[in-house]
Amino acid sequence: MGVTLGVALAESGHRVHWASEGRSTATLRRAASAGFADRQSLPGLTRAVEGIICVCPPEAALEVAASVERNGFSGLYVDANAVSPDTGARLADMLGERYVDGGIVGLPARSPGSTRLFLSGPHAVEAAEWFGSGFIETVVLGERPGAAKALKMCYAAYTKGSSALLLAIRALAEVEGVTDALLTEWSRSQPGLAERSERTAQSVSPKAWRFSGEMLEIAATFEAAGLPGGFHGAAADVYQRMADLKNADHAQIADVIERLLSERVG
Ligand SMILES: NC(=O)c1ccc[n+]([C@@H]2O[C@H](COP(=O)([O-])OP(=O)(O)OC[C@H]3O[C@@H](n4cnc5c(N)ncnc54)[C@H](OP(=O)(O)O)[C@@H]3O)[C@@H](O)[C@H]2O)c1
Repeated sequence: MGVTLGVALAESGHRVHWASEGRSTATLRRAASAGFADRQSLPGLTRAVEGIICVCPPEAALEVAASVERNGFSGLYVDANAVSPDTGARLADMLGERYVDGGIVGLPARSPGSTRLFLSGPHAVEAAEWFGSGFIETVVLGERPGAAKALKMCYAAYTKGSSALLLAIRALAEVEGVTDALLTEWSRSQPGLAERSERTAQSVSPKAWRFSGEMLEIAATFEAAGLPGGFHGAAADVYQRMADLKNADHAQIADVIERLLSERVG
């Protein structure tokens, strides 16, 4: 996702920099092929740029912001990761006025209309103006920090939450020996659901390892709002059990069921 945001910034007339220290060769290759200038370390990066957009696994968002803060960065800082409004508030405490709350909905931006960057906070309009061209559509949700994070949490609560539910149901049916009967009933009364569960297994498996952190952020968001967070706590567990399917491009529903049942006792 990060590289496609950088490409949109370049298409909007900005020079895009990044820091390669600690990153994998896959990330290095993506950034090099997009033509981003490598400043190698965070001190080098913070000296070179006027604004930063952070796109990384949700569980690293606080750590990245703290490193940027330690380097004395004084420009706008957009955190675009899938974290809760409370985590967003901690980022705002750390970064102060220059923090912009962000959340991304959609696929990595490679075609028009595919991807929206929601922004909120006092400097949200300024950050939205960075994207004059390219495939990222910006949506400003006002000056209230936390709104962009909340929108992302609500959106992913349904998309990734319902995927985890569907996969867990397929595993349950297997344990109970009713898979064939369930698929037959689904084909009669829930047309398309069996196929959806199979497509979900294929599409989610390679990314499941990084969904559990996001599910925990969603659970925390529900709980902070006085709503039950247990559903997404369980979804985090489902995705955690699938973590070793990272980068498994051809995983099938049977592979997922095997992972989900791996911790079963008896
Ligand atoms: N992909 C999507 O469709 C999508 C949609 C909406 C929102 N998002 C959000 O975008 C964010 C990133 O997702 P993604 O799909 O782009 O994940 P990704 O393909 O796994 O890329 C994550 C990138 O973050 C880097 N990274 C890992 N740990 C880091 C750290 N401690 N500090 C700095 N960088 C680090 C990784 O580098 P290494 O290669 O070195 O690990 C990699 O380049 C998440 O918050 C996600 O919720 C993604």
